Amino acid sequence: MHIIYILFLCILPCIAKPNQCSPVLDSIYPWMRLPETPSLPEPLQGSTVKINGVTIWYAIYGPKDAPPVLFSHGGFGHSAYWGLQIKALMSKYRCIVMDSRGHGRSTVSSAGITYDLMASDIVGLLNYLGIQKAHMVGWSDGAINILNVAMKYPNRQLSVFAFAANYIPSGVKDISASPVFTGFLTRSQCEYNLINPQKNYTYLNSCLMTMWATLPNWNQKDFAKITNNIPVWIVDADHEEAIYRDQPDTMTTWIKQSGELILPTTSHFSFMQKPEMFTQSIKRLLDSCYE
Ligand SMILES: *[C@@H]1O[C@H](CO)[C@@H](O)[C@H](O)[C@H]1NC(C)=O
Repeated sequence: MHIIYILFLCILPCIAKPNQCSPVLDSIYPWMRLPETPSLPEPLQGSTVKINGVTIWYAIYGPKDAPPVLFSHGGFGHSAYWGLQIKALMSKYRCIVMDSRGHGRSTVSSAGITYDLMASDIVGLLNYLGIQKAHMVGWSDGAINILNVAMKYPNRQLSVFAFAANYIPSGVKDISASPVFTGFLTRSQCEYNLINPQKNYTYLNSCLMTMWATLPNWNQKDFAKITNNIPVWIVDADHEEAIYRDQPDTMTTWIKQSGELILPTTSHFSFMQKPEMFTQSIKRLLDSCYE
């Protein structure tokens, strides 16, 4: 009786993992799927570091002397969303994931969240790790972050794989009728409450809503600041439910050396809906830098 009681008390908190949150959506159409949240490789190798007045959680996988690849996740997400890509790339690349300020296991301060702060957090982490340049892969806000790094910190990148970025607020669609996107919002709130040390979702939500109301607010001149000749891929999905197609199309014409890739049969969550295809695309860009 006692043992069963103790087991019952322990089991839920002890095995509670972010990938237990719902919903998980299935469909014959990949773009209508919201597969379960991937997990990072075990053992979880997380560490924290104080940067710009907040605590940033990060993890590193793969050989120490391999080329570094930094992954930046989307709004309301966290590092584990990159789990499938990390597992596929960590044999050949040094994969670095970080939770953006206020997200996942990272904290936020009264400074709130802006793309400039997040870009500065990324560069702060590179500095702390002693890494001068890294390949960077971003999804949604994470893609905006790495484009921002490209504009503001021209000597810190080896390549840019920017998936599902907008460059102005009006480039974002109304996602309230999308089951996949609203499902992600429900699920990521549950995940946040499981792992975030501050557990102040109201504040995270208000920080992001405030940022998204006016940012990013870029034009052709801003993208013209990307003058180094690193490879830049502007990537999106053909069934994207959150970003108007003119956003990647236009950015591609504005960044001189960039190319555009539209991933078929997937949406804003392409990296989980068709993970092999998504990872192969990253690999093509990375490998092309060493040919
Ligand atoms: C959440 O953060 C806001 C802003 O810092 C603060 O005013 C509020 O009291 C916090 N709420 C909780 C429940 O900690």
